[in-house]
Amino acid sequence: MLKVVVMVSGGGTNLQAILDAADSGEITNTEIVGVISNKQDAYALKRAENAGIPAICVSPKDYAERVQFDEALLAAVDSFSPDLVVLAGFLVILPELLIQNYKNRMINIHPSLIPSFCGKGYYGLKVHKEVLSRGCKVTGATVHFVDEGCDSGPILLQKAVEVKYGDTPEILQRRVMEEAEWQILPQAIDRIANGKVLFENGYVFVK
Ligand code: GRF
Repeated sequence: MLKVVVMVSGGGTNLQAILDAADSGEITNTEIVGVISNKQDAYALKRAENAGIPAICVSPKDYAERVQFDEALLAAVDSFSPDLVVLAGFLVILPELLIQNYKNRMINIHPSLIPSFCGKGYYGLKVHKEVLSRGCKVTGATVHFVDEGCDSGPILLQKAVEVKYGDTPEILQRRVMEEAEWQILPQAIDRIANGKVLFENGYVFVK
């Protein structure tokens, strides 16, 4: 069984998609062992609680120094001994040690087709605003492994989503979630759990 920790900051709809997929059998050989939030009021914590999954908050507000928060965050992740860490809308710059220790064992969902509309400052609605202001006709979402850069790790799965006439950033964000994020994030976990993900020369292939 692949032991998975999910890290969140907000509403947790991606977390919910993972929990639902695990329930329905769309994800197999997987146990969601814990959820970690940096925000006490994140609704994602409630979703974890409803699903009976241990959930903890590690907030930077509770630590005088960033280094102390980093240590606490790493300790929280380690406490679950996960095989895979899933960043599902986790809006915190990760401690370097966390990235190093979980190299090739940590994935992130990003709401665009990387390498477009990604990197520093591209998160949340800002991504979709920029897609619309460039007049793109297609956008989507990407699941990638996490490395030291910002949205720069090896790409695991992508799914395209149509941009439609009259879209607002909010409407487009919702469509990207429904048609791409909530599908490819559970899929990525299932492929990893079932040994279908290969690393070759810095690239990732899914069998
Ligand atoms: C998603 O759009 C995800 O791509 C981004 O943050 C958002 C999280 O939403 N990284 P939710 O908390 O899963 O509802």
